[in-house]
Amino acid sequence: MSQDSEARVIELRARSSGPRKARARRIIAVGGGKGGIGKSLLSANLGIALAQRGAKVVLVDADLGGANLHTCLGINQPAVTLSDFVDKRVVRIDDVAVPTGVDGLSLVSGASDGLDAANPRHAQKTKLLRHLRTLEVDYVLLDLGAGTSFNVLDFFLLADTGVVVMLPEPTSIENAYRFIKAAFFRKLQGDAPDSDFAQRVGAAIAPRDGRPARSPWDVVEDLRAVDPPGAARLELTLGGFHPWIVINQARTRNDFDVGPTVASAWKKFFGLDLGYLGCVSHDDSVWQSVRARRALIHAFPESAAASGVLRLAENLIALER
Ligand SMILES: Nc1ncnc2c1ncn2[C@@H]1O[C@H](COP(=O)(O)OP(=O)(O)OP(=O)(O)O)[C@@H](O)[C@H]1O
Ligand SMILES: [Mg+2]
Repeated sequence: MSQDSEARVIELRARSSGPRKARARRIIAVGGGKGGIGKSLLSANLGIALAQRGAKVVLVDADLGGANLHTCLGINQPAVTLSDFVDKRVVRIDDVAVPTGVDGLSLVSGASDGLDAANPRHAQKTKLLRHLRTLEVDYVLLDLGAGTSFNVLDFFLLADTGVVVMLPEPTSIENAYRFIKAAFFRKLQGDAPDSDFAQRVGAAIAPRDGRPARSPWDVVEDLRAVDPPGAARLELTLGGFHPWIVINQARTRNDFDVGPTVASAWKKFFGLDLGYLGCVSHDDSVWQSVRARRALIHAFPESAAASGVLRLAENLIALER
């Protein structure tokens, strides 16, 4: 462990034994355009890695249709879930956070039933996030579902840090771009100060000549022609939109360069300011740990994939320095 990381561990431990701020310090959402790319696997193991470094962490299974984070942690589905909170059978979010067997790490399991829970209204989502913010922890990690539904995008946008997972393959990179673009457009519309502005933004976002692939930068430029102050506003929003890329399942040396290459290409062509958080190898220990219903970091702590996750955790901690 580097000296910097060691100092950070000591600082986190000191904080967890002293008086705490009654507020989650950072909410991190782990998303991506596609299913099966490792969002849950990475969220679960990142949660363990951060807890091993002395942080207090709550993992939230925000994949409301297909909760399975408990399996990645190697535990049974908890009896209380987000459904109990959303349906008001439980008043405090703390009461649906169950221990995971890892010191400092608890789990809010995904909704197990109830259409409302699978498709909550915006007010329910903001209420959930508001309650999550009251948790006295260092990190809340949200494991998101696949796709670009408003549910997924809203959780992604409400978090302090958005992590986008992708595989080093053109199809997955395209999906991730679609996800980021959809999140940005959702943010633009959500931030609109009035309905006129929202309409102008909506018109700029709309597909032209049957071609939907317009970039955030094109939208700013189109708006500049009709509303220069509005375009300046969008530019500010674009500047403040800063998701972090994670490449999962790297198999070759070149795969390890894909993240930084994608980040700089998207900056140049689409005006997106993305960060690069790190890369995790494709590793047989992953499926072996899943089949054995054990967390990767516990079952194969020396594996290449586990080391990749540990580096991601260090990099997440370093974001706050
Ligand atoms: N680094 C890796 N090396 C090898 N296999 C991996 C790796 N990451 C993920 N996998 C495989 O991919 C499977 C799916 O991962 P996971 O369930 O985390 O995906 P997900 O993105 O959460 O999917 P969903 O969107 O359906 O929830 C894992 O069970 C594992 O078998
Ligand atoms: Mg998942």
